[in-house]
Amino acid sequence: MNYEQAAAKLREAGQEHVLKYYEELTPRQKEQLLAQIETTDFSSLASLKDGKHENGRGVITPLGVMQLPRIRERQKEFRKIGLDAIRKGKVGAVLLAGGMGTRLGSDDPKGMYNIGLTRDVYIFQRLIENLMDVVRQADAYIPLYVMTSDKNHEATIGFLKEHDYFGYPEESVTFFMQEMAPACDYQGKVYLEEKWKISTSPNGNGGWYTSMHKWGVAQKAMADGVEWLNVFAVDNVLQRIADPCFVGAVIDGACEVGAKVVRKCAPDEKIGVVCLEDGRPSIVEYYELTEELMNARDENGDPAYYFGVILNYLFRIDALEKIRERNLPLHIVEKKIPCLNEAGEKARPQEPNGYKFEQLVLDMIHEMDSCLSFEVERNREFAPIKNRTGIDSVESARALCKENGIVL
Ligand code: UTP
Repeated sequence: MNYEQAAAKLREAGQEHVLKYYEELTPRQKEQLLAQIETTDFSSLASLKDGKHENGRGVITPLGVMQLPRIRERQKEFRKIGLDAIRKGKVGAVLLAGGMGTRLGSDDPKGMYNIGLTRDVYIFQRLIENLMDVVRQADAYIPLYVMTSDKNHEATIGFLKEHDYFGYPEESVTFFMQEMAPACDYQGKVYLEEKWKISTSPNGNGGWYTSMHKWGVAQKAMADGVEWLNVFAVDNVLQRIADPCFVGAVIDGACEVGAKVVRKCAPDEKIGVVCLEDGRPSIVEYYELTEELMNARDENGDPAYYFGVILNYLFRIDALEKIRERNLPLHIVEKKIPCLNEAGEKARPQEPNGYKFEQLVLDMIHEMDSCLSFEVERNREFAPIKNRTGIDSVESARALCKENGIVL
């Protein structure tokens, strides 16, 4: 793309300021900027109306959950089905590690965070230790796909290599990168992160399958016979991955997706809850849960929306293929976006200064025809690290690890 073409594209998108420093740039930087303008999709910015995001929801009704007593009754049977699928190489695991972890406030990939007290225990290590539990039970390695982003790809690969993948075989690990999306100020003008670079941030965890496909990784998985993908978040240090009982229950239920859920600890806990939306499986985010839904009861008199998702889903690949080209809703998230200030100097804002645009994996659930909500014991499987202190922090996760006999 030449200068004139870039200028025309920017004019159309109302982003002419991107070329503000063009004359000062070296030939290499000019090239870089023009190439970025060519590949950037500015259409997300159009979804900003007066700086506010509108999000309509359908009719919400309760979705039944397979609860612990029922699971215990059928545990043996489910485990057998699950282990059989794992042994046959039908189950892969997808680690979502492309996020920025801004709340934790470290520039390193979240998985590199060391939660150890008397020894080193990195988050990546904890996850692989848990995965190894299943490897031992099945006597088979589970292909592990790791999604990174432009911001942390090299660091993630370097770190895992340096630690010898914490004992996992290198040939069972495949990396792919997610897409980036431009970030903007409250008026919808994209920020510059360098004079030759538009500020971008990872486009949310909802693009994982599309990215996996773009990199040819999904096709390879299918060719290898993988039929199910267990997608999970990097920041839950008690995450059970490719859990045979869960895998078996979803296969047995002939569902397109399974979602691990926990009982909320309070009606207003900040966690998305499973439900039906216009009769299809769905997840309502905590900030969309009205007072009425929060206190609603089902026909047994139990709280109707009381099971929250923990970002651990098992998707059938053919169902993912069916929805690959569909557009998921865009979520507009207020963030601190590193940018150039008026004087053209780099600034690291202390307070949110604009928006980034994200697609979320939870919106994929609504695209599926059927979903098994599968309850797990909260204190055994859910220790997320989101914040530096307080709720969902390193401290709370350490306490939960201790409760589960994990030496840190
Ligand atoms: P979060 O929603 O906690 O986002 O991610 P984050 O970017 O890691 O953290 P904050 O909000 O800036 O503090 C939940 C999971 O989704 C992954 C994260 O790595 C984490 O495993 N994720 C998130 C991605 O892989 N890509 C993204 O663009 C966003």
